[in-house]
Amino acid sequence: MTKNWWQEVVVYQIYPRSFKDSNGDGIGDIQGIIEKLDYLQKLGIGAIWLSPVYQSPNDDNGYDISDYQAIMQEFGEMADMEIFISEANKRDIRIVMDLVVNHTSDEHNWFIEAKKGRDNPYRDYYVWSDPGVDGGVPNNLTSTFSGPAWELDEASGQYYFHLFSKKQPDLNWENPQVRQAVYDMMNFWIAKGIGGFRMDVIDLIGKVPLEGITGNGPKLHQYLQEMNQKTFGAYDLLTVGETWGATPELAKLYSDPKRNELSMVFQFEHVSLDQQPGKDKWDLYPLDVGELKKVLTKWQVKLGNDGWNSLFWNNHDLPRIISRWGNDQEYREESGKLLAILLHMMRGTPYIYQGEEIGMINTPINDIAEAEDIESINMYHERLEAGFDSKDILASINAKGRDNARRPMAWDNSDQGGFTTGTPWLELNENYETINVAAALADPNSLFYTYQQLIQLRKEYPLMVWGEFELLDTAEQVFSFYRTYQDQRWLIITNFSNEEQVFSCEDKIEELIIQNYRCPINQLSNIKLRPWQALVFKVKNEVARLSSNEEKKL
Ligand code: NOJ
Repeated sequence: MTKNWWQEVVVYQIYPRSFKDSNGDGIGDIQGIIEKLDYLQKLGIGAIWLSPVYQSPNDDNGYDISDYQAIMQEFGEMADMEIFISEANKRDIRIVMDLVVNHTSDEHNWFIEAKKGRDNPYRDYYVWSDPGVDGGVPNNLTSTFSGPAWELDEASGQYYFHLFSKKQPDLNWENPQVRQAVYDMMNFWIAKGIGGFRMDVIDLIGKVPLEGITGNGPKLHQYLQEMNQKTFGAYDLLTVGETWGATPELAKLYSDPKRNELSMVFQFEHVSLDQQPGKDKWDLYPLDVGELKKVLTKWQVKLGNDGWNSLFWNNHDLPRIISRWGNDQEYREESGKLLAILLHMMRGTPYIYQGEEIGMINTPINDIAEAEDIESINMYHERLEAGFDSKDILASINAKGRDNARRPMAWDNSDQGGFTTGTPWLELNENYETINVAAALADPNSLFYTYQQLIQLRKEYPLMVWGEFELLDTAEQVFSFYRTYQDQRWLIITNFSNEEQVFSCEDKIEELIIQNYRCPINQLSNIKLRPWQALVFKVKNEVARLSSNEEKKL
């Protein structure tokens, strides 16, 4: 099996708007990120996934791009980007750019041209349809950001398709010119020395809207193979697809090295467990830890060597994990460390979302006027109109809204957490005086050092990258597994609850690798795990010992 750098590193995601503002306009920027590269190097990461920095009218905070080859003014200039890439590379950190090519902004030149008329050469860059039989929308597909996925273009009498906001028209991947234009743009960035691409909702590019097909369309993999061949295939880059609808079988189609598509996928099965079955993310449902174990184990076991997974709890679309599934009150540090240890001990490439490494938590709002995110705002009005109670809608937003992850990063306890000297575009969480980077760095027992240690361990022990995964049968709230590589075997034990739990097994401890409480444990039978306790031991590898005895006998 070929071993690739992108399997060995830990990736850190930056949401530039909220990371660090260098010029006092209240909006994070590229120079701000450059200022913090030493911090990221200290953490130990090997790549940065950079959320979009391209020119954009910001209807969806940069995921609506009006020029793929220009930098958003608020973030800086192309020259800043070039410095950033080279400064990061000097520190052995590669930059993975966000590739948003399911749609553009309606302010992209292609769309401005396309709207000029049915004969315009760019018309076919997008998906158009005449009205449906009743003279209205062509069909009842809906947008992720509420309302129909079709918008009438009055001038031509046709509808254009948009799976996200109406300012994000979908590109028509059937059109070879669109594909070539995207590949040229990708090659422009590759030539700048980037380390790869994170591909936004890439499972949607094969859509056939008039047949009602959005995800996993019939030509999706053909397009990805073509993209691979025409762009990154000749280089050693990380490519990760955002694939909401992936099953392990589908994930192999994307990431089996023999198929020449992507390095790995983001799958979302585990982060969809706390919603009511068959409903959407706003329909809250308590997490069943047993289900979480089942889903994560399935992904660990089923990909085998025919695909590669990414490991994450957070990103810019998801609520903060400690608030979501840990305990952001009495056990913020402990549950944060457990979540870190658990994730990094599984097989796949781990991703850390900015602020996760210092245990940032959700920021509840009391009024919809405090929300910035288009998804939450549209959903609020849609549900209000449908008769939902505004308190319940706000509860959903507080649990799942994307602004939770997008609150500016707190660097220290000075005004605005050192994020900006101006007025931040979105208020910081009011806890910034205690939960901030400076405080985490000053405390040798902080979550930051757990992350740093996990990244260091990954560099030292190939077992963390390559080891086989095997689940242990334990109490429901205990998530425990082995990782085994060559003659080494590690045992991971985590108590995913606020209560004590009993754990017992017959393994013999050889060495403690990492833990989140400081309490000595020297045997593994009948131990009482404290709330959110996480332990990793190197244990005697009985399996290896038995098989080598067998060999001796032969
Ligand atoms: C997925 C991105 O992660 C999200 O932030 C964005 O709104 C949609 N795709 C549309 O680009």
